[in-house]
Amino acid sequence: MKIAIGSDHGGFELKEKIRSLLIGLEHDVRDLGCYSPDSVDYPIQGREVAKSVASGQCERGVLICGTGIGMSIVANRITGVRATLCHDLFTAEMSREHNDSNILCMGGRVIDPELAEEMVKVWLMTPFKGGRHSRRINMIDSLEYENDSFEAH
Ligand code: RB5
Repeated sequence: MKIAIGSDHGGFELKEKIRSLLIGLEHDVRDLGCYSPDSVDYPIQGREVAKSVASGQCERGVLICGTGIGMSIVANRITGVRATLCHDLFTAEMSREHNDSNILCMGGRVIDPELAEEMVKVWLMTPFKGGRHSRRINMIDSLEYENDSFEAH
């Protein structure tokens, strides 16, 4: 699978670990930074990964900052992105089954790295359940279009 990955300094170490995991699992990984533990502004990498997924260049994305919160706020501003901030195996699984998550957000200062690896595996393997959940995703999409057509006053 083609997967975009990104982090800020708060998620850098975990991003490196998850990138190695994904490469080991033979995914096609697009690392959109950051590339060192030096301080950066997370909206930059968050936007890059979100755009890459929304445009279809990558099927999925993984975004990591200190808490995962900033990255999820940024990514969900991009139409077509369903970025889900997950903290454990249950939320990682549900984010796929119920929310058709296309970007997994995690907190590098929150989650144990071994747990994060397991979460990524579960998130990649779990299919979207469809059915009533599709109706809800369509409702989210129509909110996005509503938003896109707002006029500035
Ligand atoms: C950076 O210090 C920190 O604010 C960032 O990594 C993230 O947690 C923001 O939500």
